[in-house]
Amino acid sequence: MTDTLRPGLFLSFEGMDGSGKTTQMRLLIERLRAEGYDVLETAEPGGTPIGRQIRRILLDSANQELSSRAELLLYFACRAQNVDEWIRPALAAGCVVVSDRYTDSTVAYQGAGRGLPMDVIRGLYQFACGPTAPDLTIYLDIDRAIGLARAHARNAEHAAAGQTDETRIDNEAAEFHDRVYDAYAALAADEPGRIRRIDAAQSIEQVHADIWAAVETHIAAHSLSKGPRHV
Ligand code: TYD
Repeated sequence: MTDTLRPGLFLSFEGMDGSGKTTQMRLLIERLRAEGYDVLETAEPGGTPIGRQIRRILLDSANQELSSRAELLLYFACRAQNVDEWIRPALAAGCVVVSDRYTDSTVAYQGAGRGLPMDVIRGLYQFACGPTAPDLTIYLDIDRAIGLARAHARNAEHAAAGQTDETRIDNEAAEFHDRVYDAYAALAADEPGRIRRIDAAQSIEQVHADIWAAVETHIAAHSLSKGPRHV
């Protein structure tokens, strides 16, 4: 169920680690802003200052004892904060909200990856987010091995630069990432109206062009207006 009373547009990005989400989100947001749209950029886990504190707990590889149920609840705690503090007000004000990941990630990583029950995830989603669901989800589909190799190379660079350790999930076994990949493929097949699968092995320019074509269609369908908003 989507929130039909709000004037904004909610876009989410999904994909395996190393699918190029960060680059493509940046390109899309720059283009939307250049076209005159007011954009709220957010991320899961993260976004709000409280969400960024929760992110640290979730991704620190030192937190090996974090149980699967606690992990699931923390992802939703982070999301509830994001929805209440940032996403809903921005959508109500008519902004384009672009989120790096949302609940599809929880279905893929905690549902398929960890094997937690999907009905529990659906119930928590309803409780944490209510009707706040993406209008369009860009799913960047990358070969699992390529994505993982890119993510590991990036993590090694971050470690060498002394940046925060965010590798707890990336360090999961290959079978875990296989289940996540299969879950994304199933989600994209189940919800072709909302989820737009894009081949992330194409050039950066081509991936961006595909994303822009999908976003433009949604902007036109929503009759979204331009200009600064006051959230
Ligand atoms: P992200 O910051 O997008 O990292 P990356 O750039 O590597 O994709 O996501 C952090 C990690 O959190 C990523 O491994 C996926 C995981 N994750 C979940 O397991 N469940 C969730 O609900 C979300 C939002 C992310």
